[in-house]
Amino acid sequence: RKPISLPRLAQLRAAGEKITMLTAYDATFAAVADAAGVETILVGDSLGMVCQGLPSTVGVSLETMAYHTASVARGLRRAQGTAWVVADLPYGSYQESAEQAMRSATVLMQAGAHMVKLEGGGWTAPIVRFLVERGIPVCAHLGLTPQTVHALGGYRVQGRGDEGAAQLRRHALQLQDMGASMLVLEMVPAELSARLTEELPHCHTIGIGAGNGTAGQVLVLHDMLGMNLGKMPKFVRNFMQETGSIKEAMAAYVRAVKDGSFPDNTLHAW
Ligand code: KIV
Ligand code: NA
Repeated sequence: RKPISLPRLAQLRAAGEKITMLTAYDATFAAVADAAGVETILVGDSLGMVCQGLPSTVGVSLETMAYHTASVARGLRRAQGTAWVVADLPYGSYQESAEQAMRSATVLMQAGAHMVKLEGGGWTAPIVRFLVERGIPVCAHLGLTPQTVHALGGYRVQGRGDEGAAQLRRHALQLQDMGASMLVLEMVPAELSARLTEELPHCHTIGIGAGNGTAGQVLVLHDMLGMNLGKMPKFVRNFMQETGSIKEAMAAYVRAVKDGSFPDNTLHAW
């Protein structure tokens, strides 16, 4: 198996094959996900909740992100894994300036990431361009952006109504123009994310609670294994229950995303 690369992801998409993503925060889970056929692994700042017991992602530091990114990268290397590694730039590590974002992204790339992810649209455009021009692949993140949960007023659906949809669309198109090659859409109406996916040929949309019209899907690992300290989001499916082993659960997730049976739009069409 050849390592997953940006051309390989474009190839999958062109062939009409859905891109799969799961979060992982350590060496073992990353290697198991890779072996189960997951193409892209997100070292998400959701590790703040999942691993650190924090109330939100706001308190996650760059140092912590680098630690978990390095763990995932070592696990994949040791297992001769092929997955593409995306690491979240945590809150406060990119908001000040493009230069600050570059310094922070460098830390994550040197820890073993292949791509960094940052939340928000509009104000992030020059930051995305700055990183991409300097050779760092960027994944954007629109819709529900957990780092700004306090400003958003809670974990709720975004991009609703004509105005909300128009703004999200403007931001998404601009991010593609700036060179973002991937875009997480979180808790966005299914219709909107399907439309955006058609309008973003060079930027692969990865949905979570965003219906099944995106180029790929992502779930938080612990959620899809049925383990959650808080409230389980409605859009999650427990793949562990159906399979009984972690590797099988991950393989079932990959199959379900590829054959279009997950997510089921009728369950959470917003
Ligand atoms: O941190 C995370 O796990 C994420 C995904 C939910 C997209 O950003
Ligand atoms: Na995140």
